[in-house]
Order: sequence, then C-alpha cells, then structure tokens
Amino acid sequence: MEDKITVIDHPLIQHKLTLMRRKETSTGKFRTLMREVALLLGYEVTRDLPLEERVIETPLTEMKAPHLVGKKLVIVPILRAGIGLGDSLLQLMPSARVGHIGLYRDPKTLEAVEYYLKVPENMHDRDVIVVDPMLATGNSAAEAVKRIKEFEPRSIKFLCLLAAPEGVEHFAEVHGDVPMYTAALDEKLNEKGYIIPGLGDAGDRLYGTK
Ligand code: URA
Repeated sequence: MEDKITVIDHPLIQHKLTLMRRKETSTGKFRTLMREVALLLGYEVTRDLPLEERVIETPLTEMKAPHLVGKKLVIVPILRAGIGLGDSLLQLMPSARVGHIGLYRDPKTLEAVEYYLKVPENMHDRDVIVVDPMLATGNSAAEAVKRIKEFEPRSIKFLCLLAAPEGVEHFAEVHGDVPMYTAALDEKLNEKGYIIPGLGDAGDRLYGTK
C-alpha cells in the first residue's frame, strides 16, 4: 500500500493531525490546523516544481537566481472541503491559478456526481495539484482527476490529508500514473463510507455545518 501513496509523516504534521481528529476541537481551531497542515504538506508536494533562473540584483551584485514558474501551476480543490487545503497552497504559491470541481457523494451509491467544473485556459502546459482532505472510497478523487485529464495538463498530482486503503486501491487502479500524497493512511472505511478512525466529515468540521 505504501508504494502507491506517499505518506508525509513529519512530526509537526502528525501532531497537528491528531488535534484535528479530536472531536472536541472547535471549528475555528480545526480551520487553523487545516491551514497549518496544508502549508506543511504543500512544502513536500511542491518539492519538484520547476524553477527558472532569472537575473536579479542584490545590494552587492548581479546574480542569476531561481524563480518558481508559478503561473504554470494549477490548484484544483474538490468542493467544498478541498477549499481549505487549496487556499493554503495558494498562500505558498500566490501566482498559481485555481480551478474548481464540484462533486457530491450520492449517499446511496457513494458514487461521485459532478455539479461544477471550471479550470484555467491553456491547461496543456500546466502542472495540476488536485486537492481534497479525505480520500475515502476514492470515487470523487478518481472522477475529478478523470475530468482534469480531459484537459490534458502537463502533469497531475493528488493531495489529501487522510486516506483509507480502499480509496488508495481504487485511485491507483484508475490513475496509476498520478502520484498521491497524504498525511496519514488510516485503517478502513465504515459502511457509510467514512474513514475510520478519521476525523469525521471534513467539510462540516471546516465550516461548522453540523
Ligand atoms: N468525507 C469526509 O469528510 N470524511 C470521511 O471520513 C469520508 C469522506
């Protein structure tokens, strides 16, 4: 399983994730923690971002210095919980573009149903990071990546906070060419498709809707 997904197990991430899992953690605190964890995850996920050298002047001399080719990057949160992760990545890379894909889980079939999709133009030469905190059944993530692939971007990665083995298997089966990153690989899904032990409904916990 660990060969299919990269678990970013930095101690700071693990500690903050534990605080997020605790049921008594408030909505405000949960949101702050999501932002902090996303920044740390972003650091690892962007490790191989392309750089280009441009001439700058320091107070002492000219030099060729590395710059991110930021405008080529597209962050695509899966609505709505993905926004928490996506906004933090945007803080790290303010000139990245943002696409949105809206998918909800049919509560009976657990299948992903699309209700919104908007991505930047010229996806051909862009690198995409699709983000959703919870990789549960993997249906939403797999469907989102399938739709993004139709725009033929240069590369795609998938980033989540928590993953269930079932979701990792499903996603890897459908998109073996798309690297997955997570902060933790949990035990299993329950009969309602929630990650166990998990942290509950990420959207509800982020936005205080329950
Ligand atoms: N979505 C969530 O928000 N939580 C889960 O545990 C599974 C899917």
